Amino acid sequence: MSIHKQVRKVTTHVLHEMKLRNEKIAMLTAYDYSMARIIDNAGIDIILVGDSASNVMAGHETTIPITLDEMIYHGSSVVRAVKRALVVVDLPFGTYQGNSKQALSSAIRIMKETGAHAIKMEGGLEIKESIVRILSAGIPVMGHLGLTPQSIHKFGTYVVRAKKEKEAQKLIEDAYTLEETGCFAIVLEKIPSTLSSQVTKNIKIPTIGIGAGPSTDGQVLVIHDLLGITQEFSPRFLRRYHNLFTEIKGAVRNYINDVRSNDFPNEKESY
Ligand code: KIV
Repeated sequence: MSIHKQVRKVTTHVLHEMKLRNEKIAMLTAYDYSMARIIDNAGIDIILVGDSASNVMAGHETTIPITLDEMIYHGSSVVRAVKRALVVVDLPFGTYQGNSKQALSSAIRIMKETGAHAIKMEGGLEIKESIVRILSAGIPVMGHLGLTPQSIHKFGTYVVRAKKEKEAQKLIEDAYTLEETGCFAIVLEKIPSTLSSQVTKNIKIPTIGIGAGPSTDGQVLVIHDLLGITQEFSPRFLRRYHNLFTEIKGAVRNYINDVRSNDFPNEKESY
């Protein structure tokens, strides 16, 4: 029987076992209690409280403005809802790049104040020292390579990363570094399928792709994109499973009409 059907709680060990058995890992973002409850109930393996909350929850253009306090608010809301999934919270921009002491104190705040099971950080060799320090405190770390949205102003665009040999080589070396350092998984964002396939075959920890093709050990999407709540964001890698923007808008319009026409509430809906 598949491992994901047997376990009552997903741990980093379960994910490792899933990779060994070639069982794909399903990961989605969530930022609040109600959505996390639905996703967990549906059987998702990992819930990422992503700093994409900065975009989809707060309406910022980038992930840069979101604060540690805000991530803790989202993280603790999600954790209260989850019974089975592994919950990973992003360390937001500016809370770990300074030095390893700052990184550890940010990670500790996330773990203590949200009850999450792991944190995620963007980068490779540059943040190795911070990862080592966080891991030494017993906090599991998920890496993130390829398109790293916290560095958007360095790259200038959200185009596919590591298409050129030099950048691809750096990504491969970074993946080895994250594995050797002790990360339990790595998100690979918006890179060529051939590269993600090469990385996935050569490292022992699971890779989770977003815009990285079918060979990664798992896939992740932002829940608002999957459900069609966001409309303007339409990259090639996105598969929309619903058009909630239109559905919610329709429901709200019906409600407005009912209120205006005095149809709501009716007698049965009144005391
Ligand atoms: O913040 C986020 O949602 C992410 C995923 C896109 C991997 O980092």
